[in-house]
Amino acid sequence: MARIARLSDVLINKIAAGEVVERPASVVKELVENSLDAGSSTIRVDLAGGGVDRIIVSDDGHGMGRHDATLCLERHATSKLRELDDLFHIDSMGFRGEAVPAIASVSRFSLHTAEVGADVGTRVSLEGGVDPLIEDAPPRTGTVITVEDLFFNVPARRKFLRRGDTELKHAEEAVVRLALANPEVGFFATHEGNELFSSAACPEDPRERIAAALGPAAHPHLFPVEERRLGVSVTGYAASPEFTFPNARGLYTFVNRRYVRDRGLIGTIQRAYQDFLAAGRQPVVVLHIDVDPIAVDVNVHPQKLEVRFSDARGVQEAISAALNRMLRAAPWLGAGADPNGPGGNQPRDAAHYALAVERFLTRAQEASWGAPLPTTMDAAGSPPSSALSGAPGPIVGIPSPLPFGAVGRPPAFGEAQPQLNEAPPPGYFAALRPMGLLGGRFHLCEGPGGTLVVLDPHAALERTRLTSYLRALDDAKGPPAPSLFGTTLEFPVQVAKALVEGREALARLGVDVEPFGGTTVALKTVPPGLEGAEARSLLEALARALPPKGAALDSVTLAEAVRVMACHAARKAGAVPLTDAQLRALLGELDRADFHPPCIHGTVVVLEMPLLELERRAR
Ligand SMILES: Nc1ncnc2c1ncn2[C@@H]1O[C@H](COP(=O)(O)OP(=O)(O)OP(=O)(O)O)[C@@H](O)[C@H]1O
Ligand SMILES: [Mg+2]
Repeated sequence: MARIARLSDVLINKIAAGEVVERPASVVKELVENSLDAGSSTIRVDLAGGGVDRIIVSDDGHGMGRHDATLCLERHATSKLRELDDLFHIDSMGFRGEAVPAIASVSRFSLHTAEVGADVGTRVSLEGGVDPLIEDAPPRTGTVITVEDLFFNVPARRKFLRRGDTELKHAEEAVVRLALANPEVGFFATHEGNELFSSAACPEDPRERIAAALGPAAHPHLFPVEERRLGVSVTGYAASPEFTFPNARGLYTFVNRRYVRDRGLIGTIQRAYQDFLAAGRQPVVVLHIDVDPIAVDVNVHPQKLEVRFSDARGVQEAISAALNRMLRAAPWLGAGADPNGPGGNQPRDAAHYALAVERFLTRAQEASWGAPLPTTMDAAGSPPSSALSGAPGPIVGIPSPLPFGAVGRPPAFGEAQPQLNEAPPPGYFAALRPMGLLGGRFHLCEGPGGTLVVLDPHAALERTRLTSYLRALDDAKGPPAPSLFGTTLEFPVQVAKALVEGREALARLGVDVEPFGGTTVALKTVPPGLEGAEARSLLEALARALPPKGAALDSVTLAEAVRVMACHAARKAGAVPLTDAQLRALLGELDRADFHPPCIHGTVVVLEMPLLELERRAR
């Protein structure tokens, strides 16, 4: 007795539908892909009942003649694949010739189509994939396909469809994925008359499409990424670490325009962002990976959701390179800034910034993360003296890889012996977001990529004063306009003598002293910033810095005297906490400050604690 019987085409289609048509969203995907393959420039998706009751996909593509309109309902009928070899050069979304017959077999299906310029169109209607009714229809541009009562004839499948708006959400997401992959095509979707998605073609600025999908708030945070290598190109947009989601819903990867959800690709993106994001936050990235069709197998998953690259590693490296470049350049810090200002995006600044951030990232990787607390941040390497006390001195207690210092000890801005190029990148300080005061002294700020930045106002003031006094000294116009001061002080003989003999040198610095009889000296003027400073200790320190009588007043001596002044000015100003406005002004000044000349104490200006490190410690 014969045990084997050939399955009917209808049954085969239904079985195929089990793989191809999982839910309304898969119907939307398959039909829209066909519209894209037909070269459409606008695609509409209209849904009812979450897509279970009705899905209408209309396009303005090349349409079909009567023959194709009938044949497309037959299994393995495709216009996109002719030979086995074609399978390895797939450049269309579809290729199996399976979707339309599968969908038709599990729904009430109709299509209305016409070829360009035809006088008459074709309508084909059928239920459950059988007995197609083929009739003349008005000519039209493109094709409209209507799918009603999905799984009406497969109760078991229909039962598994989700209640509520779950199916609708999936269908909407299908539209979003297709729309993101094809910004040059207009996409419009509705559900029972309500707009779900609306985005005109936007080939010039695909960010508009991303904003349509993820919300307009995303737009200003998106930056282009690009890496073109032999055999693979990675392009797209990635959001700054300031714009994140609590889940991976803003992560989209497309391979040759096909949405894929590949663990390797997603992991590569997440790794690129890992030092920039807080725990539980996910980046927003829309990435197009284009490879030679021969270098990717899209035929490994029934819904074509996974792909296999012949050079998976090369693809991952290209993605990392594209994202790392953007993240290191941190364009969001310059976005919207005055192009001529310190945070501006002049090419030179951008290059400097990129270099500086690159150095930071490299060092962050090189440094060991587990050093015990507390650690001295003193540039001279001396042990912690008075951790977080009010006394001016090094900031202690935050062992972390910090930018622009030497490897092997905690680096920081403004060290006593900074290396060449050890300055912070342009606009760094202005971009800090002050959050509050720690220990009545240290300003805590949010820095690039969510880093915790601790600013020592004393060190910062010393640095800015030093810069302004040194610039004044270099300036042909002479010392800064002195402020009238006027006080008399009695000193030990040696000090009074040194001050009177060094009057000329002091005058160059804007400090005007006169003998006032005996060992008393009159201090008449001081440079700006030193008004109200502790005059006695200032003059004593200056006396020590001045050259002995008869010795030449060289630049080294002058610089030392300037350092003394800067230190005193900072001590005076730093005695009271800064107001918000003063802090802002100080941050602005720091961006213009010179970090190369050493300060008296060599104290660091800021410490940076990467968010990742904070998270690690918090665990
Ligand atoms: N909107 C449309 N406009 C023009 N032609 C279409 C349209 N939809 C389907 N077709 C034609 O019908 C054929 C069958 O479509 P179907 O989706 O079943 O197969 P496919 O797209 O070739 O492969 P796959 O099963 O992988 O999607 C297509 O090859 C195409 O020629
Ligand atoms: Mg198809």
